[in-house]
Amino acid sequence: MAILVTGGAGYIGSHSVLTLQKAGYEVIVLDNLVYGHQDLVEKVLKVKLIVGSTGDRALLREIFANHQIDAVMHFAAYAYVGESVTQPAKYYQNNVVGTLTLLEAMLEADINKFVFSSTCATYGVPDAVPITEDQSQNPINPYGATKLMVERILQDFNQAYDFRSVCLRYFNAAGADPEGNLGEDHNPETHLIPLVLQTALGHRESVSIFGTDYDTPDGSCIRDYIHVLDIAQAHILALKYLIDNGATDVFNLGNGSGFSVKEVIATARKITGKEIKAELSDRRPGDPPTLVGSGAKAKKILGWQPAFFNLDDIISHAWQWHQKRHQ
Ligand code: UFG
Repeated sequence: MAILVTGGAGYIGSHSVLTLQKAGYEVIVLDNLVYGHQDLVEKVLKVKLIVGSTGDRALLREIFANHQIDAVMHFAAYAYVGESVTQPAKYYQNNVVGTLTLLEAMLEADINKFVFSSTCATYGVPDAVPITEDQSQNPINPYGATKLMVERILQDFNQAYDFRSVCLRYFNAAGADPEGNLGEDHNPETHLIPLVLQTALGHRESVSIFGTDYDTPDGSCIRDYIHVLDIAQAHILALKYLIDNGATDVFNLGNGSGFSVKEVIATARKITGKEIKAELSDRRPGDPPTLVGSGAKAKKILGWQPAFFNLDDIISHAWQWHQKRHQ
């Protein structure tokens, strides 16, 4: 089985490539390297990298003509919520138009199985937590809107064509491969756990706590942190489900338990043994107070079993990676 992995040079994509390799799949990565890391694919994962965009129809035709691809896992997307507000065109062009081009090329090439990286950002401010898949989706930023648009396109493709997909709506991806070869490496970095660990390493003076007056027990935002390898595992299960003729469906990838920003910092202090200076700061626009997802449907239908659901493991693995990277 050969799988085309778009965005395989990124954080979640690269961990999924590793997991696919371990499960015996052949992998080809397509990545435009705007935010991805070439060395990771070529030197660490040692798989074929095609540098290019999912919006490049001619390139896609060439890839599908020259390789026997059985299914596509689509991670490639711009994913900075704040940037999506100031540069929406960039997000709609890449995340929606680029994805539509990829889907059309798949139709032309008779490839009909697709696993899509969706997000809890499609829900906006949730009606209730833990969030189940049937809750209303009202994204509050263009990033979430682009992902929801693709979800709708996939429903319509399912109706009109012989085309099946699984959308995986991740909550907060975190952690790293415990063997230490891969990890979270965004530039610029905006995510909480890497910023906390960079502070522990002394690369930053302090970390800001964005908002301390939310309606949560300690006033800071609550998120459901999911280990990146558990997300990767869910992709393999989704792929198997589609290969076994499973119907088009959507699944949340959440652990069903949330941790506040202050709890994350406290856990990181315990694990690293470092002081980690934190400063109270204003709310960051666009942050829902609490996002916690139910993974019950993925467990029931896909057989998903998260292995690293405890925050200590997630932060320990991320810490190992950050230390190794900066040796
Ligand atoms: N936070 C801080 N200080 C920081 C950075 C983040 O307090 O320096 C807080 C945020 O306000 C938020 C929490 O830590 O409450 C987590 O923030 P992240 O930026 O790590 O993650 P988000 O919850 O904003 O984003 C994640 C994914 C997005 C996805 C979004 C859905 O990274 O791709 O969930 O809301 F869109």
